[in-house]
Amino acid sequence: LDNGLGKTPPMGWNSWNHFGCSVDERVIKETADALVATGLAELGYVYVNIDDCWANKRRILVFVAPLLAPDPNTFPSGIKALADYVHGKGLKLGIYGDAGQLTCQQRPGSLGFELLDAMVLASWEVDYLKYDNCYDMGISPQKRYPAMRDALNSTARSIFYSICEWGVDDPALWAPRVGNSWRTTIDISDSWESMTRIADINDKWAEYAGPGGWNDPDMLEVGNGGMTYQEYRSHFSIWALMKAPLLIGCDVRNMSPQTLEILSNKEVIDVNQDSLGLQGRKINVSGKDGCLQVWAGLLSSSAPEIRLAIVLWNRCSTASMISVSWLELGVIFDVIVSVRDLWEHKFLDSISRDSFGAEVDSHDCKMYIMTHIPLFHSES
Ligand code: GLA
Repeated sequence: LDNGLGKTPPMGWNSWNHFGCSVDERVIKETADALVATGLAELGYVYVNIDDCWANKRRILVFVAPLLAPDPNTFPSGIKALADYVHGKGLKLGIYGDAGQLTCQQRPGSLGFELLDAMVLASWEVDYLKYDNCYDMGISPQKRYPAMRDALNSTARSIFYSICEWGVDDPALWAPRVGNSWRTTIDISDSWESMTRIADINDKWAEYAGPGGWNDPDMLEVGNGGMTYQEYRSHFSIWALMKAPLLIGCDVRNMSPQTLEILSNKEVIDVNQDSLGLQGRKINVSGKDGCLQVWAGLLSSSAPEIRLAIVLWNRCSTASMISVSWLELGVIFDVIVSVRDLWEHKFLDSISRDSFGAEVDSHDCKMYIMTHIPLFHSES
């Protein structure tokens, strides 16, 4: 969506994966504090997004207008006060709504109330709207989602518009004109099976993503406990390469050093935030059921160099060598400038002439940026 937002994938935090409906204004404020204190905010994690359950079960009549209102038990100070708090920390506030009659947890939906609700969100100085798809009343998403886009555009405020349509109606085909991101899949859960399945679905829509509009394979589970360190590292690397929104889904007030290490890897974040905005893809599979995988994507570069981000991802149950020919990577070996390992934080000092590869542990990955100069530009 050409509203000036989302030139790179959004980064921040969302309450749902860890807190579900047990979210309140204290959690949001403490999370904002923790994002700053841990250095995550400085790395770009600026959106603090409240998911479902913030709203009062009924609209409140104000001069006959039925307005959305926060749950007085969990958000007694109101959303505007929370936005002020979050903005005071240099961060942005996100909120959640629904393109149907009710949200998935049965709070009021915005179907038929788009203009009114957009006005209220803008008056609270909200910066991001995740717009869900429950209780659709049988109306096509291609009608319901543009209605809120137009309503948001009619406010004076720039609000990132995140379409949460779960990939039901192939949103990649129409949502680039409607929102700044669109969910391509059902909800993620904190397991290896869910994460890998979702990565594969999201990969199919790679060509539709770009600056202003991103495929959204759902929020990060890193740090929630259901996967190993290696699995979370793979999850983060692939989400970064796929130019997915990097929305942290754990309790950032109580993170292990390993969780913080993964989420703070600036070299991996830089791949995600690259200005070219090209979604990396699965380019080669081998091994049993294709469990040895190479994913790669072009990055921005200054001529005559070309930069390529590469993930070697071992989805098999044992450690294995993963390799790919230079030709398959589109690289001519003679003119390689450097290969940087983004998890070891060092340049490789020897590179084989035959193929590019490495030994990768089970469910782990290696991630690199390869810089090379195409042959037709080189002197030799
Ligand atoms: C849907 C969305 C989730 C979350 C819940 C909240 O399932 O896909 O991301 O927002 O609703 O109820």
